[in-house]
Amino acid sequence: MNILYTASEALPYAASGGLADVAGSLPAALCKAGHDCRVVLPLYKSVTQEQRAELKFLLNFTVDVGWRRQYCGVFEGHANGVTYYLLDNEYYFARDGLYGFYDDCERFVFLSRAVIELVSHIDFKPDIINCNDWQTALVPVYYQTVYKFRPGYEDIKTVFTIHNIQYQGRYGMDVLGDIIGIPLYHARLLEYDGAVNLMKGAFETADKITTVSPSYAWEILDPWYSHGLDRALAGKQYKLCGFLNGIDTDLYDPSHDKAIAKNYSADDISGKAACKKALLKELGLADDGSPVIGIITRFVSHKGIDLIKYVFEEMLGLGCQFAILGSGEKIFEDFFKEMAWRRNDRVSVTVGFRPDLAKRIYAGADMFLMPSQSEPCGLAQMISMRYGTVPIVRETGGLRDSVKDAGGGDGNGFTFKTYNAHDMLSAVSRANDLYHSDNWDDLVRHDMKCDYSWDQSAKLYIGLYEELINRNDS
Ligand code: GLC
Repeated sequence: MNILYTASEALPYAASGGLADVAGSLPAALCKAGHDCRVVLPLYKSVTQEQRAELKFLLNFTVDVGWRRQYCGVFEGHANGVTYYLLDNEYYFARDGLYGFYDDCERFVFLSRAVIELVSHIDFKPDIINCNDWQTALVPVYYQTVYKFRPGYEDIKTVFTIHNIQYQGRYGMDVLGDIIGIPLYHARLLEYDGAVNLMKGAFETADKITTVSPSYAWEILDPWYSHGLDRALAGKQYKLCGFLNGIDTDLYDPSHDKAIAKNYSADDISGKAACKKALLKELGLADDGSPVIGIITRFVSHKGIDLIKYVFEEMLGLGCQFAILGSGEKIFEDFFKEMAWRRNDRVSVTVGFRPDLAKRIYAGADMFLMPSQSEPCGLAQMISMRYGTVPIVRETGGLRDSVKDAGGGDGNGFTFKTYNAHDMLSAVSRANDLYHSDNWDDLVRHDMKCDYSWDQSAKLYIGLYEELINRNDS
């Protein structure tokens, strides 16, 4: 099967969040399973000189963006056995940062149209195009409204994957003619609540819609989770499903990780104690046998930081220590900084993005706290389990699908249902009790043995793609 996988970010070339991890590891798993999956993304300024030196210029063409015709260069790169096409347009992509510009709509309209245009310029005819999130949501829209009947575009099936329904690509109606440039009699595909909504366009036109966990697929039918899009999905359940993401088990491997103090595995977890010791030292925390709770996240209430703030003193009262890494809203940054200042032997906060420190926290902490309001999938809980760090999570989205409460005997973490600070506190307290018992190490070993590699999920994607290809639409 030939699969063209497109996203606005993908490791190893550009990353700002979990989407880049998925776009950097699912295609490799599909290739490993014997398919030809290639990835398309913009050539951002963040691509390093060393990476650029390895890229090969292939060709260029022009892309219609409303009434404009824009240059698009194509560079080919290779990583992890996957071919990448990096689309070059300096005006749109040679900027500091990936998103947040006044013309993001135009930039990603360009990307989506360039992706579909690319098909007729390279020697690779996809059976499936899988696009992701609002930035590439127009790919199936262009396919259905403009390209489908062109030579070379026959029988392509499109899949749209939602990583987070909060970000939809909503713009004023004027962008329809000025930037998007589909025939105006198709405007209804993109129109929603009096605005243009790119994600809704993908719901209308893609052959399948997937989400990054089974639970999130039904949660987003509910207004509490849908950020207004439940009505757009209501008639689309027949083509909506969710598969849990995997993680890159080579990148996150405590038995080989060079960023951590000592390597260890499920068969011999003694190195984890050394990692904890080193972490406590690095962060200046007291080494007194208390459980360390890791938190690596964006500091926004959506991630449940308001719950943490609400009962932080109580959690300290249980005897827990905290290793916190992330950045976000000032009110939360200030709160954590103040706690770290007042209780500097119990609480450490590092503001910023530090991939190596993140790995040392995954390895050195005992528990990992993730009380999100909603979590389409979440990767950190799976990474922490890989490092034998027991997750404490709210039962939502991918957290609900990957973490089962250990209270019943066979779970891998601690969970709570309602978005309530004291329910979270009680889960932390139960984890704390088990930590001080003889059974804790069994749970650590059990978590390290859980399989969160892409093998299972890649099979589900392959099954879905095959079903689409074999479907007789005529
Ligand atoms: C988004 C979601 C996160 C998910 C990631 C990868 O960042 O918020 O839950 O793990 O995408 O799919």
